[in-house]
Amino acid sequence: MDIILNRRSVRKFDLNKMVPHEDLIDLIKHGESAGSARRQKSREYIIIENKDFINKLSEIYVKSSMQVKECNQMIAVIGKTNEDLPCVQFVPTDCALATQNIMDYAVSKGIGSVMLGTYPDKERLSKASELLNLDKNKFVFTFICLGYPIDKENAFYDMNKFDESVISYIK
Ligand SMILES: Cc1cc2nc3c(=O)[nH]c(=O)nc-3n(C[C@H](O)[C@H](O)[C@H](O)COP(=O)(O)O)c2cc1C
Repeated sequence: MDIILNRRSVRKFDLNKMVPHEDLIDLIKHGESAGSARRQKSREYIIIENKDFINKLSEIYVKSSMQVKECNQMIAVIGKTNEDLPCVQFVPTDCALATQNIMDYAVSKGIGSVMLGTYPDKERLSKASELLNLDKNKFVFTFICLGYPIDKENAFYDMNKFDESVISYIK
């Protein structure tokens, strides 16, 4: 299966089945294999499996189409903004590449995912940082909700989003 074409946002998870710890680490390993500007070390990850925390988080994402409470596991992708990073302006881009890698690779393990848009929404950013008690030089790029899809058969499919009209040429 082409994991990239078949990745779909999954919002209903089997809450009786947890993604094993080693798989979560493997997902992050694949996140970290994404490019970053000048190969800067600009990302960190937090594995969240605490239901009280997830319930609190759900109050921030009330307008999200994901019912955040209906998720047992998440990976928070954290961007760093240390002065010594060579390309600090590109940290959000670094985080976006890692996020996509994680969600794509998850498909290969039958794991569903959806990201909760956080950066650069000021309100979500400040509430999420507060909840995580983050240092000033870090920000939450996104939370990736993870789990095994309830509807296994139909969770991953090629939506055929490609439309050739998005391409123009300079020859
Ligand atoms: C920047 C960004 C923010 C998103 N935020 C949310 C969100 O807060 N809640 C949610 O349920 N899905 C969120 N999504 C998932 C999109 O809704 C989803 O990617 C889109 O509907 C296309 O569906 P697909 O992922 O199945 O291709 C977000 C996606 C992106 C790229």
